[in-house]
Amino acid sequence: MSGLVFISGASSGLGAALADTLPFEARCIDISRRGAAGLESVRADLSSPEGWDRTAEAFERELDGFRGERAVFVHAAGTLEPIELAARAGADAYRRAILLNAAAGPVLGQAFLSALGRARTRATLAMVSSGAAFLVYPGWSVYGPGKAALDHWVRTVAAEPAPPRGSGCRLLSIAPGILDTAMQERARSQDAERFGWVEEFRQLKRGGSLREPREAAREIWEILLGDAPSGSVIDLHRPAGSDDVD
Ligand SMILES: NC(=O)c1ccc[n+]([C@@H]2O[C@H](COP(=O)([O-])OP(=O)(O)OC[C@H]3O[C@@H](n4cnc5c(N)ncnc54)[C@H](OP(=O)(O)O)[C@@H]3O)[C@@H](O)[C@H]2O)c1
Repeated sequence: MSGLVFISGASSGLGAALADTLPFEARCIDISRRGAAGLESVRADLSSPEGWDRTAEAFERELDGFRGERAVFVHAAGTLEPIELAARAGADAYRRAILLNAAAGPVLGQAFLSALGRARTRATLAMVSSGAAFLVYPGWSVYGPGKAALDHWVRTVAAEPAPPRGSGCRLLSIAPGILDTAMQERARSQDAERFGWVEEFRQLKRGGSLREPREAAREIWEILLGDAPSGSVIDLHRPAGSDDVD
């Protein structure tokens, strides 16, 4: 199977695991600030409109005339930080985190759909969401609300009619469960005043409840290649004993 796969955030954690476990033959392009070892990368800061423009240009360039079997965009870039009570957060860091978590997904999703207008392929777009899209964690106001925006963007755009030209696209939003990545390390390193759930998250690590990113990545690929209907918002795993933490 020949394909073209874009993964934002393939320089680390789940995005890197998705690139490592790609189950079909494809050219894989990372979108991140640092770039991913061994992959082509679009170097872009996705908390800024300049980074969105650079990514949109890459979609246009690579998808123009694309006739491969499959085109995929997985938007995995995201940040938990600043973990802070909203009233105390610094305005600049807060604004950038909101732009990355809440705005970049819809903006880049729209750019991908638009670029597909000049391709003929089977296309899938997946947002990487989180249980925090519906669970409330004080201190995570730049994060959960952004994930909720991704879920609802997917539901909304999936309900729109197919485009008259080019390739339509299946849209999914997938929460991967709690993963053993740098993001979780940063969550565990907070003090309880900033993040009241910190002890529960430390306990998940001590209790071995965090999932390996490669395990979640394989499940995500199964879903992407499966038949879940467009517009599905899927929560992969709620580890036993942690119903209220994700
Ligand atoms: N870890 C979990 O328990 C968990 C649970 C549910 C959902 N998720 C979601 O899974 C996804 C991956 O998280 P992870 O745990 O793998 O985190 P991670 O190891 O911290 O990786 C985050 C990725 O996002 C990219 N990124 C961050 N800020 C960026 C920016 N301004 N511009 C471009 N790229 C940026 C990073 O690349 P650069 O630093 O190179 O830019 C990195 O590749 C995220 O969407 C996260 O919300 C994680």
